[in-house]
Amino acid sequence: MNLYNALDTNTSLNFSKNFKSSRSSLITPPLIAENSLELILDKVFYKLENLLSLKADIFLKIEGFNLAGSIKIKPAIRMLEVLEEKGEISPKHTHIIESSSGNLGVAVSLACSIKGYHFTCVSDINISSINEQYIKLFGGDLIIVKEQDKNGGFLNNRIALIKQLIKENKNLFWLNQYANHENKNVHYLTTAPAIFESFPEVNYLFIGAGTTGTLMGCAEYIIEHKLKTKVIAVDAFGSVTFDLPSSKRYIPGLGTSRKPELVNKSLIDDIVIVKEEETIKMCRTLLRKKAFLVGGSTGTVLAGIKAYAHKLDMADTIVAISPDLGERYLDTIYNDQWVLERFPNCLESIID
Ligand SMILES: Cc1ncc(COP(=O)(O)O)c(C=O)c1O
Repeated sequence: MNLYNALDTNTSLNFSKNFKSSRSSLITPPLIAENSLELILDKVFYKLENLLSLKADIFLKIEGFNLAGSIKIKPAIRMLEVLEEKGEISPKHTHIIESSSGNLGVAVSLACSIKGYHFTCVSDINISSINEQYIKLFGGDLIIVKEQDKNGGFLNNRIALIKQLIKENKNLFWLNQYANHENKNVHYLTTAPAIFESFPEVNYLFIGAGTTGTLMGCAEYIIEHKLKTKVIAVDAFGSVTFDLPSSKRYIPGLGTSRKPELVNKSLIDDIVIVKEEETIKMCRTLLRKKAFLVGGSTGTVLAGIKAYAHKLDMADTIVAISPDLGERYLDTIYNDQWVLERFPNCLESIID
């Protein structure tokens, strides 16, 4: 397939407009970070027009330009700094431990290296080689769990191992992103205000559910500020977060094999469940139509919006959160062989 022929004609037409607008924006103050932990870009949105046969525009909040390449740098820094403020951890006395197979592990490893903490990441055999490399490059140690738990995932076993290790070593401190309130508070304090300062009237906010930190932090912000925005959670088929049966999943980011303590269903308006095949099709549709390479959970969230399209109105303002970009998925979602081995019919029908 010739990628360029398949692109939306709008993409090239809008390009010069965007180029001009980006030049005129040179007069706005630049972001000059004095510490790499300040390299967080909370107001970057990509307006997706004419996608998913949807009449309404979707404003995709792009988190992949942040330090460490994802939304997870925000909870990583917040969890560490609140503990430091409380005097519970210090680089001299504390060895940080956390369970992650993805972006949080990379983000904590980076933040720990800047702050001077020793870090151990407990992961499993599904970790991508690129995340493994990132965690180690930033100085983190990696423990790989090989035995599956009763839900066909690894999370229960990863957590059991951490509990055992912290019993044995008093200097170990578990951040515990699944239960740590700062993992949601940071989105209440940063992600949600960035959305509502940019779009005061959002009709629908679509958020993928992993630990549910992003989802719960934004939902709490909407409720406390008495906004009319409907929060739609998007989860992967086979995830147990919303009390549905577990099944095998391949794409990291969204979905769990153990219900996170942070989740509170009563704060959200609706839930959409997306099969991994639809995630892959959506990621590849975006690549073909917009030459935009997104991560798996962005594909899942957009596939969730597509499934929800019948409830959306042309005049609605729709915002969706894109937690990371696609480079970390070149060996999986964007690798034909990987896809065909797991989802044999997936590549035949690319949507839209
Ligand atoms: C790529 C990606 N998508 C989605 C999520 C889910 O975010 P949360 O844990 O806030 O639910 C994560 C979290 O690790 C992620 O890395």
